Amino acid sequence: MDRDDRIEIIALVGSMRERSYNRGLLRTAMLLQPDDVHITEFPIQTLPFYNPDHADGEGMPTVRDFRAALRKADAVLIVTPEYTYSIPGVLKNALDWAAIPKGRSFLRGKPVGMASASVDRNGTVRAQMHLRQIFLSMGALVIPEPEVYVTFAEDKFNQLGELTDHTAREQVKSLIENLADWALLLREQR
Ligand SMILES: Cc1cc2nc3c(=O)[nH]c(=O)nc-3n(C[C@H](O)[C@H](O)[C@H](O)COP(=O)(O)O)c2cc1C
Repeated sequence: MDRDDRIEIIALVGSMRERSYNRGLLRTAMLLQPDDVHITEFPIQTLPFYNPDHADGEGMPTVRDFRAALRKADAVLIVTPEYTYSIPGVLKNALDWAAIPKGRSFLRGKPVGMASASVDRNGTVRAQMHLRQIFLSMGALVIPEPEVYVTFAEDKFNQLGELTDHTAREQVKSLIENLADWALLLREQR
């Protein structure tokens, strides 16, 4: 497979916790990715706080690199916990850097897949609903399925932080495959 033919997915993780379940989800996605897919994480915790006075990111190499990575990517994968019934600040900050006012953004027309793990029984449904709203404002396209919510995370990851639950692993695999299919379809339309 030619490198140019690969589907490039940029992954953003909403947890900074060292033993994060959501980071474990991303590791699983990377392990299960098909040969023609390449997932790379962008470390959003390295971005400065968004300031509209410096919206162009001038003199901020991390912002420049982030926007370049978004532009280059065929698709976006969000892996995040829910914080206080919404998304963590570190992720919202990154998405603000990805936005350009008036419904445009560096993600315009790009497919977005979402997966999340929670220790709770509701499994981040509310955070994912908020993300759908945010992506609507950016003209990004959240893929319709599968919806991946890993509930009761303590029971589904082992001591090494690996996702061991069979059903959840299958969902993550199917998410990456579907996201890649959408990315290919949209790439052909460009
Ligand atoms: C500040 C804070 C707020 C949280 N709020 C929620 C919440 O609204 N819903 C939920 O399901 N879990 C919530 N949790 C629990 C997270 O699901 C749990 O900490 C999970 O392990 C975070 O993901 P991580 O392991 O990837 O860091 C919250 C945790 C923190 C630290």
